[in-house]
Amino acid sequence: MATGRMRRPLTTRLLALVFLAGGLCGAAAALAASAGGEAALEVAKARFRRPAAIPFPADNPYSDQKRTLGDALFHDTRLSIDNSLSCASCHDRDKGFADGKAQGRGVSGQALKRHTPGLWNLAWGAQSFWDGRARSLEEQATGPITNPDEMAQPLDALVSRLSGDAELERKFAAAFPREPQVTVLNIARALATYERTLVSPETRFDRWIGGDAKALTEQEIAGFRLFAGKAGCSNCHSGFALTDNAFHDIGLPGDDRGRGVVLRLPAADHAFKTPGLREIGRSAPYMHDGSFATLDDVLRHYESGVIDRPTLSRDLPRRLQLADPERAVLLAFLRTLTTETEPRPPDRIVVAAPVKRAPAARVTTVSQSDKAFSPTHIALRRGERLWIVNNDTRTHNVRVFDQVLDFDSGAQEPGETVEIPFPKAGSFLLFCGIHPNMELRVEVGQ
Ligand code: HEC
Ligand code: HEC
Repeated sequence: MATGRMRRPLTTRLLALVFLAGGLCGAAAALAASAGGEAALEVAKARFRRPAAIPFPADNPYSDQKRTLGDALFHDTRLSIDNSLSCASCHDRDKGFADGKAQGRGVSGQALKRHTPGLWNLAWGAQSFWDGRARSLEEQATGPITNPDEMAQPLDALVSRLSGDAELERKFAAAFPREPQVTVLNIARALATYERTLVSPETRFDRWIGGDAKALTEQEIAGFRLFAGKAGCSNCHSGFALTDNAFHDIGLPGDDRGRGVVLRLPAADHAFKTPGLREIGRSAPYMHDGSFATLDDVLRHYESGVIDRPTLSRDLPRRLQLADPERAVLLAFLRTLTTETEPRPPDRIVVAAPVKRAPAARVTTVSQSDKAFSPTHIALRRGERLWIVNNDTRTHNVRVFDQVLDFDSGAQEPGETVEIPFPKAGSFLLFCGIHPNMELRVEVGQ
């Protein structure tokens, strides 16, 4: 449904130019970083700083007992129908929580449709799977258990199988004191909690970001400058985990339409979730189809393998050319994202305080730029309309999933405005289907 879409009047178009200029400042900073400006380099570095604490959702808060139970379930082969596979069979820590194969195999012996992704640093991502079809890790967890090609285990059979184990039952009781049973929901909650604790350990890169100028070599720093500058990698591989948690078409061959199928949005065809790059040295082969064996192959794809098509991400640099020494320093930088010793998740978990939302602004127009809504929290009166102006360089897709308001803007191109009526009171969460970490909370009063 694209009825809420319209062309912008000239005044807002002028306004958009101002916003776009703001967006370009970021790119200019990145370019300056590659050219050598020290101040710009510090700005670029700050964007990769490691968060001090892990976010957990309010409806599944952290406890050590839940983590212990989730860890046990993750390594338990009883989760598969023939007791042959645990989650860890395919998600192996020593292989970056992937499996080292282009396509893994489950209990059916069939090659899986997509490559097994790594699981580091998923606590910061909104959607799960390469195409983001699961809205949370809780929702994701039962997918591989029941999938006939993966573990093929019916959920009721699993619950009765696990219920017979007294030690495991004690773990469930400790993790869920108010409903101390083996249930599908509790299995999913425990697995999701364990997965959120899989924060990749510090590497030399973190020490350098933290201020130890000697932690990286000149070569590696030159590689970082390219990554955050000319090569444009940090347009998508941004933040401490090196992912924007958004979906992009980077021009790989193949007929898998990825995010486009989930959103029923042709503009998102061939888009897949940006993978984080922590421990990337361990998790070859690469991409949703496991088609690249080495990081060198990955770079050559960005240089000369990109298939030109209308859905290509606007964040993808066009006609990237790297001289041999540039490719070498970029690879040297990528290697600093992998630990030199065995990668262990943290022993002690520090839980992030709930994010305090800014007070609701009383506005009827919200803009989108640099993959964010601005403002992110607004108040309207019942019956009012909201205009969302795309001042970004990217295509967005505004959605609301709610019992009283179901809305899908379709593809909202740069320069287009989406109009949403709010006929009923309530609190609504709007997000972008292509960049799901973009969220806007709308409070509609009487
Ligand atoms: C047979 C191999 C196999 C097994 C067993 C398996 N997985 Fe996976 N896992 C995959 C593949 C393949 C994908 C990607 C599927 C897709 O995106 O369409 C995946 C995706 C995921 C993702 C999404 C990661 C992301 O970046 O979005 C999570 C989380 C995950 N698995 C957790 C688990 C858990 C928990 C278990 C055990 C209950 C498990 N997996 C069992 C192969 C496996
Ligand atoms: C437009 C956003 C974007 C840009 C720019 C970008 N990437 Fe990616 N990257 C992605 C996406 C999306 C994937 C997964 C694509 C797929 O599997 O279909 C990916 C995959 C990768 C992978 C494989 C990771 C894995 O676990 O399979 C590596 C390594 C990588 N990119 C490195 C880089 C480097 C280095 C650069 C700069 C030269 C770069 N990327 C630029 C979005 C981007």
